[in-house]
Amino acid sequence: MGFTPDFLDEIRNRIPVSDVVARRVRLVRKGREHSGLCPFHNEKTPSFTVNDDKGFYHCFGCGAHGDVIKFITETEGLGFLETVERLAGQAGLEMPAYSPHDRQRSEQKKSLYEVMEAACKYFESGLVAHMGQEGLDYLTRRGLTRETIRKFRLGFAPEGRTVLKDALSGRDGISEDMMVEAGLLIRPEDGDRASYDRFRHRVIFPITDRQGRVVAFGGRALRADARAKYLNSPETPLFHKGRLLYNMAGARKSSYDRGRVLVAEGYMDVIAMAQAGFANAVAPLGTAVTGDQIAELWRLAPEPVMCFDGDKAGIRAAYRVAENALPLLKAGFSLRFVHLPDGEDPDSFISGHGAGAFRDLLAQGRPLIDIIWDMKTASVAVDTPEQCAGLEKSLSETLGDIGDKVIRGYYDKAFQERLSRLLGGAFVADHSLENVAQKKNHRAFSAKARDKKTGSGPIGELPGVKKPQNTDIFKGRAPGAIKRERLLILTVLNHPWLLKEHHEEFATTYFESAELDKLRCEIIDVSIRESNLERKSLYSHLLKTGYGKALEVIFKQGEFRAEWFAWPDAARQDVEQGWFHVINRYRRVSDIQKDLDALVKELAVNMTDDVLERLRALQKELEQARGNEASIDGYGSASGRKKHS
Ligand code: UTP
Ligand code: MN
Repeated sequence: MGFTPDFLDEIRNRIPVSDVVARRVRLVRKGREHSGLCPFHNEKTPSFTVNDDKGFYHCFGCGAHGDVIKFITETEGLGFLETVERLAGQAGLEMPAYSPHDRQRSEQKKSLYEVMEAACKYFESGLVAHMGQEGLDYLTRRGLTRETIRKFRLGFAPEGRTVLKDALSGRDGISEDMMVEAGLLIRPEDGDRASYDRFRHRVIFPITDRQGRVVAFGGRALRADARAKYLNSPETPLFHKGRLLYNMAGARKSSYDRGRVLVAEGYMDVIAMAQAGFANAVAPLGTAVTGDQIAELWRLAPEPVMCFDGDKAGIRAAYRVAENALPLLKAGFSLRFVHLPDGEDPDSFISGHGAGAFRDLLAQGRPLIDIIWDMKTASVAVDTPEQCAGLEKSLSETLGDIGDKVIRGYYDKAFQERLSRLLGGAFVADHSLENVAQKKNHRAFSAKARDKKTGSGPIGELPGVKKPQNTDIFKGRAPGAIKRERLLILTVLNHPWLLKEHHEEFATTYFESAELDKLRCEIIDVSIRESNLERKSLYSHLLKTGYGKALEVIFKQGEFRAEWFAWPDAARQDVEQGWFHVINRYRRVSDIQKDLDALVKELAVNMTDDVLERLRALQKELEQARGNEASIDGYGSASGRKKHS
């Protein structure tokens, strides 16, 4: 809903900023301004000022700045619309009705609220009346105090088809149609039979909107054999269950003040938590926590804590929320998860172990990434290369779900680290997982782009052979190859001990650049002659044997700033991991390339389907290997500033 600037200005004119701010901040008047301690950052001397004439507040310390509306949204966690509604009320302004249709709808809604309120009162009084004894006994047995029952406005719907209908029908302004529309009555489809009460013989949990108005009910069956344990209101003009949270109005203030909001699965959990001192608890309404609800929770606290049941369904629910959160993640906002013992929910846990134990449990909440990791790995075998690749792919898909680029990068890094740990030393987690799942598409695309530029290659000119998509495959390596050769040598120069453990790899990796390859051979030679090669002696030996120029190029300032593993002061483990990764990927490409060269020669003399097929397979493999190789270029850049001493 948009407001006209006039309307908002009218609010700003009528309500002095200092009035609103003074409820939170002790203000001292100084001429035309007020000043006090800034509520948006921690400070000991006041740098927060309020100017009623200009209608804004400003903090010289942290730069916080805004008008009355902004102040309320920022300090009370209310949305814009609600803030305007509240301030309009204070200013004595009617909320604008924009069209006759809007007005009609808002009037209709207004009366539906009244119907719901009347029903709520009826149920409430039912609980304490004689007919509700059974319901009251039930709630008492479940440990609820009278005060809690009152606070949550719990009620009772007696047995009988039309008890509520009969009670409310006679009242002023409440029609049967309205009760049907409000979801209180069910009108059979055939239209012949009369409408009847939706909630019968149930304990009633009123569901309120953000402002505390009753918009729906949940009804819990008293008998274990009832058709549904909980029955909820249907979607109505007032009630959209995917957007609302149970007890949102009750939990808002304490959540906002504590900077923490707890999310349980059930109504009874929320109530038990509140009674035990955790007033900041809410629950979804019989569905998984939706994206809308997550956004709503983030307005109260940056890391809502999910306290789901410790059974399979609870774990599934946690996974669902975790997945729903990924596209929405933004800097500083996430979720945490508390694991309850199997078979317990917050309600049973608190009544069995006490509030203190629950508090301890909350302190052990796990971050979102743990839950995602569990979800992805809990029942996945990683005994074979194919299974490992499968896991990589599934992690990559998860990364693809994360909307925020920076967060995605951090998850990528974290997944790589966890993958290394999971797979042991065998796996070098060092390439971005991000595009593993999509790599095929990306490569196909870039192959097309290349095709345009390069025209036909040697194969394209052979009669009867379909031109391969990727014609430059027979030309030199990816442009980064020589650079990577320099990087490999630089790392060895700074860490000659590598030659001891990885002599074999280095000795059998043939470099593209003739000059660098000669240097490589020379290094291999020295290292064979001198078993404990030191940096200094290696360097001076190479200078003496005429590689001064090459060394100069390799040490050229800044080329490998991001590849910190190559630096002299990098930790041994990082050096090893980084270098090993680069050389392995590099070797793969050069091996495939060699096979491919041989096959092209073979094709010239023996053009059979079999050879062609092998050629295509190798091309594909090469593309893939190059994709991996290309990802090396970005390797280490995220932690490029990380130095080990
Ligand atoms: P639970 O069965 O965990 O609820 O379902 P609970 O609050 O712990 O129930 P009791 O009273 O202690 O046994 C969690 C939530 O799922 C919805 C309700 O919102 C409930 O609070 N639900 C459950 C339904 O909508 N319908 C059902 O039949 C069951
Ligand atoms: Mn329960």
